[in-house]
Amino acid sequence: MHQVMRHHYHFSLFILLLAVFSACREESASPPESPNSLMREQPAPAAKVSDPLPLPKTGEGSFENLVADFESKDRGIWQKPNMVISLLGDLEGKTVADIGAGTGYFTFRMVPKAKKVIGIDIDQRFIDFMDSVKVRLDVRYRDRFETRLAKADDPLLRPEEADAVVLVNTYGYIKNRGQYLKTLWKGMAPGGRLLIIDFKKNNLPIGPPDEFKVSLSQAERELLSSGFSIDRVDQDALDYQYIILAEKP
Ligand SMILES: C[S@@+](CC[C@H](N)C(=O)[O-])C[C@H]1O[C@@H](n2cnc3c(N)ncnc32)[C@H](O)[C@@H]1O
Repeated sequence: MHQVMRHHYHFSLFILLLAVFSACREESASPPESPNSLMREQPAPAAKVSDPLPLPKTGEGSFENLVADFESKDRGIWQKPNMVISLLGDLEGKTVADIGAGTGYFTFRMVPKAKKVIGIDIDQRFIDFMDSVKVRLDVRYRDRFETRLAKADDPLLRPEEADAVVLVNTYGYIKNRGQYLKTLWKGMAPGGRLLIIDFKKNNLPIGPPDEFKVSLSQAERELLSSGFSIDRVDQDALDYQYIILAEKP
């Protein structure tokens, strides 16, 4: 098999295992976690299943390296995906849009919980990557997931389509955010929740350089001036990222 295809296959398998494992965890759902237990969230199960899989040795910034970065073995420790998703509340019967979904790190973890999860990205490679995993999802979940190739200035949601929107490590990449938020607003149902998680400033060991980050206070200002209310702000729950939970009133 061609080297690149073999890498692609390995990472598709990696994500598949991650999704299936996450789905299994949902099947045996335990009582809600306390804030303290959330702080001790263990590494994502995928870290264990990925151990025998080879990491790509291709050049910096290659697609394979982006995938390896987004799905890195250590991410579960600092990203606390279960705690993050729990901030959205009960997703049963709800449609969730994961904007800037990338490999679907959050998208696939939400699929077992929601009526539908839309993995949205502007990069066709990530859409293809997510689709390659989608076809391998358990048939019970397959219909709950779709990908959508969006435009840089428009997530292409239908009017009031999303009950919840997730933007993780993506807000800073969006240009003209004021206008973007107004467009996003139209795609959200009244009462819809918007969860933004992005890297704190101060040149952290993880995440982009500071000049590519949007500060928490700036993000708050942009949300408020676009008509969103802010329900919760947290700079402590995650080591490297702040959390904003906003709402379309
Ligand atoms: C750093 S990655 C984060 C991926 C994923 N949310 C995660 O946390 O693993 C940022 C993603 O946002 C996408 N992106 C950048 N600008 C975007 C835009 N205007 N609309 C939608 N997606 C965008 C990129 O293609 C990339 O997949």
